[in-house]
Amino acid sequence: MPLISDTLLDQYDYSTDPVLKKHLHAWDRVYIGAMMSYASGIGTFGRQMMAHQNRVAHDGARFLKHLGFSDRAAYNFRAAMLFHDIGKTHPTYNPMIWMLYERPSPGEKDIQKRHASLGAGMLQTMTERNPALKNHPHIQVRHAVTLYHHERIDGHGPEQFMADRLPTFAQVACIVDAYDGDLIPRPHQERQRTPRDVLRRMMALDDPAKKYAGAFSGKLLQKYVKMKEEQLQISVAGTQSGGLLGFLRLEKDR
Ligand SMILES: [Fe+2]
Ligand SMILES: [Fe+2]
Repeated sequence: MPLISDTLLDQYDYSTDPVLKKHLHAWDRVYIGAMMSYASGIGTFGRQMMAHQNRVAHDGARFLKHLGFSDRAAYNFRAAMLFHDIGKTHPTYNPMIWMLYERPSPGEKDIQKRHASLGAGMLQTMTERNPALKNHPHIQVRHAVTLYHHERIDGHGPEQFMADRLPTFAQVACIVDAYDGDLIPRPHQERQRTPRDVLRRMMALDDPAKKYAGAFSGKLLQKYVKMKEEQLQISVAGTQSGGLLGFLRLEKDR
């Protein structure tokens, strides 16, 4: 893949681009159907995955607009991010890796994250069969968010790529994916995390393991937290509980 940059997001429109209309839209409808019904024999895994992708795509588009990106860029990001976890549907990927009753070991976490490279490989195979798509900006954007959405600034992600070398949109993919992923209840957790719990964990507060220390750009994360505080009417810093109390305080100040 050529060098990627944020300018890619403004170079086309996913819904009206003639090449994408002719060579990709029908495939994407098939992919969405395949993802929705994925692992339906063992549960609602596919529906949950599609809902996660949809939320993350929406949240990332909102964040890009908050950062000053154009409506078109945000929309194109959203279309690409809708498929970022497609590697989980690869025939060699076992969805049961997300249903562990114990906290996943480092080895199991590596297996979980393998879907990023599997998904990028699936996209590459598809573009090799459709040369018209090769080097299209949307494919480059989609490849980047698929392959790099679990990368970290400290280089400890699955591709061991320093995430601060990625364009902003790919770093946004990492942040919004971590936020939504940590909100999803897992069988080994005592209770579901709240948005405030998750944001504090992403800021490497309240988490003895400090899972996210060194994961994100501090500047970008700060802006994301600020956006979430405004959107959800919560206060993430300090000891305030946020939530309803934060809302009531705001109401009183009006
Ligand atoms: Fe993922
Ligand atoms: Fe994801």
